[in-house]
Amino acid sequence: MKLVLASDHGGYELKEEIKKHLLEKGYDLEDIGTHSTESVDYPEFGRAAAEMVAAGKADKGILCCGTGIGISLAANKVKGIRCAVVSDTFSAKMSRAHNDANMLSLGGRVVGAGLALEIVDIWLATEFEGGRHQRRVDKIEG
Ligand code: RB5
Repeated sequence: MKLVLASDHGGYELKEEIKKHLLEKGYDLEDIGTHSTESVDYPEFGRAAAEMVAAGKADKGILCCGTGIGISLAANKVKGIRCAVVSDTFSAKMSRAHNDANMLSLGGRVVGAGLALEIVDIWLATEFEGGRHQRRVDKIEG
């Protein structure tokens, strides 16, 4: 599975923690930035990562900004993207099982690294259940 990671300055430190964790686990990942805590605009990073997922250049994506919200809003503008903002493990599981979320967004100013890494692990390990949920997911695209 190929992953794309992106953040703005508000999510940079959390993205680095997630990157280290996933590289240790052997994931193939591409970090498209940002690469420092210098202020940048989150829509550019959210959209670029989402376009990689939508184009099949990555299977899934993980985003971080201060709240996880702004960067997810940008990602969700890209056709085919279902980006879930998550700050608890139950939602991490359900965003995959029921919503087939193909991107996960976390707030670096909301969740600590310990919880964030648990969320990431659960999100990556959970399969979409399909069935009635497929019909509902199909209706999201219209
Ligand atoms: C940047 O200060 C902050 O607005 C951004 O990281 C994010 O929280 C936006 O949703």
